[in-house]
Order: sequence, then structure tokens, then C-alpha cells
Amino acid sequence: MNAKKQSFKTGEKVLFGIFGVFVVLAVIAYAVLEAVRLSSDQPMFGATNTYEFTEQGALGSVLFREARCTSCHRALRNGTNMGLSLDGTGSLRSYDWIYNFLKEPEKMYDSSDTLDHGPAPKEAAYVARLPDDELKAIAKFISQLKAERGSSSAPMPPEGRSEFIDSMVKTWAPKEWTEKYSDIRTRDQDSIGDVKADDTDDGK
Ligand code: HEC
Repeated sequence: MNAKKQSFKTGEKVLFGIFGVFVVLAVIAYAVLEAVRLSSDQPMFGATNTYEFTEQGALGSVLFREARCTSCHRALRNGTNMGLSLDGTGSLRSYDWIYNFLKEPEKMYDSSDTLDHGPAPKEAAYVARLPDDELKAIAKFISQLKAERGSSSAPMPPEGRSEFIDSMVKTWAPKEWTEKYSDIRTRDQDSIGDVKADDTDDGK
């Protein structure tokens, strides 16, 4: 039998052709994206979280790490996701709320039981027993972790309405939900969480 060179079957040609088109398109899209990104004088993705600390807040960020909060939390892109990420908490909760939570977690939480903060043997029981000036600095630090609307750590979606979200809500949200819940986008931003416009930061 003479070894005839095998050519591709039609199905294979179509399959490889489609695959090839995808690869070519991906390469072109990547090249265009990089070209736009490199030639633009503005960052393509603006920063939506802000980290501006007062002296006490900066001290709090050091204490936050020293007190092993990062073993369960994330802040400033540091730490773990085991517990809650605290980035943006300053746009959701007031300094007072945070301080009171660190002291008396169970009183401040809506749910009847907390997981880790609270009296021993809960794992974060030591937090409430930290020296008061340290807790104040840490609370200040957390209250200064702000997130703009639309940031993944912000309580509010970006400004303006999205037709896409409106149509998804209309199609998929059960009728009872409109009575049970209110649309966060129709609320005044300052009423979200426990923050009132003027008590997020007392400037100390
Ligand atoms: C063992 C894990 C663990 C450690 C350590 C820990 N936390 Fe937490 N933290 C949690 C969990 C879980 C929650 C959610 C409340 C709960 O169930 O206890 C929470 C909630 C919080 C909240 C409330 C967030 C919100 O918006 O509701 C703050 C503020 C906070 N922690 C700060 C701290 C600070 C500051 C430290 C260090 C001094 C710390 N935590 C150490 C696990 C931990």
C-alpha cells in the first residue's frame, strides 16, 4: 500500500477554521486593547477605592496587621478573604458603629449570633479586649476605607439606571420581592448602611 498523504476531512477543516478565526480575533482584540491602553493618558480602569488616612488612621492600619485582623479580613488589598473584606466599609458604616462593633459585636449585629467576634470561645474574642486607644485607631482606619459607587466593595451600584438590570429585574424578580424589598438604586445614598452624610469621618 502506498502511503498517500492524508488530507483533512471537510468537518475537520470547518472545525479548525472556526478555531483559527477565534485565535486570530483574540490576538487582534488584545493588540487593539494594548494599543489603546498604552496611548491613553488616563488610566483605563479608574481607582474606585480611596485610601486617605489621617495620622490616627495610618496608625490603625499598622495595628490592624499587628492584631492579626488580616488572618480573617482583607483591607488595602492585603490579608485574606476568610472573613469579610473591609475595603469600602467606611462608605457603609460610621466610625461609631465600627468602634462599637469592635467592643460589643453582638449588640451591633442584626443577626442574633456572630460567627467569630463575641465572647470566648469565639475566635476573634480577643478583639474586644484590645486596649481602647488601639481599638479607636483601628476603627478610624476602617472608617477611612472608602469605596465609590460602582466599586465592587461599595454598597451602591454605579450612578444612573441600567436598562439591562431593569429588564432582568422585571423578567426574573418574583412579584413579592417588590413588596418585601426596596430597590437600593432608588434610595438616598446616605441612608444606606449606618452612615449619615456627616458622620463617616470626624476629621481626627
Ligand atoms: C477569626 C476570624 C476573625 C478575626 C481574627 C477578626 N475578624 Fe472581624 N469579622 C470576622 C467575621 C466572621 C465577621 C462577621 C461577624 C461575625 O460573624 O463575627 C467579622 C466582622 C468584622 C467587622 C464588621 C464588618 C461589617 O461591616 O459588618 C469589622 C469592622 C471587623 N470584623 C473588624 C475586625 C478587626 C479590626 C479585627 C482585628 C483586631 C478582626 N475583625 C479580627 C472574623 C474575624
